[in-house]
Amino acid sequence: MSLKIALTKGRVEKKVIPLLEHAGINCVPLKNKKRKLIIQCNNGEFEFILAKGPDVTTYLNAGVADIGIVGSDILEEQQNEQYELLDLETGKCQFVLASTADFDVDSPERKIIGTKYPLITKRYFESLGQDVEIIKIEGSVELAPLIGLADAIVDITETGTTLKENNLKIFDYLNKISTHLVVNRMSLKQHSREIFNLTDQLEKAVLEEKSKGELSTDENL
Ligand code: PRP
Repeated sequence: MSLKIALTKGRVEKKVIPLLEHAGINCVPLKNKKRKLIIQCNNGEFEFILAKGPDVTTYLNAGVADIGIVGSDILEEQQNEQYELLDLETGKCQFVLASTADFDVDSPERKIIGTKYPLITKRYFESLGQDVEIIKIEGSVELAPLIGLADAIVDITETGTTLKENNLKIFDYLNKISTHLVVNRMSLKQHSREIFNLTDQLEKAVLEEKSKGELSTDENL
């Protein structure tokens, strides 16, 4: 039976493929998947389910996936109880508070904040002792202060390019983010040998890639 792995499609997927290869998984079918959403690798030993980040934990909770590969931003926002196996130390980015240059973080007025991460945003402003209005946005969060929807945003930045190209400035740095390997507790009991074997291989891959300096460190963030 295949080990079912819910893999966050897009950036996480691209960054994690070298690690999966390093761990002995032939990722050619994943790289050539086109619009296919379920991909078998290593002659069916692994079945990758390509999912949106927030859905990865839904699949694990429902027991339709054994393992998830997902950003810690999602796990933090969902306050997820999933069993975390490993920090893959890739897909590194950071939460930031950003806005146009004229934003005043210390202004006493109640601020409107646009974000994909309302819980993280609420906690951050609570830590500053500020009560803010939060507007949930699904994407292109950087638009919010530019079009007058919000005073500022809490969003993730990786290279900083989106902020820069939209003339937005970072006002504060929040938590750092990386891609994590998580597991369904029931699967861990049923497939413990296969899951721990994969985790060991990935752990070795993380260490080796790190020693070669191939995992992005994003120390500038
Ligand atoms: C994320 C994030 C920023 C962007 C930052 O969006 O919300 O918009 O990446 O990356 P950068 O610092 O490398 O420029 P994503 O690409 O996931 O798309 P979205 O706007 O649809 O959320």
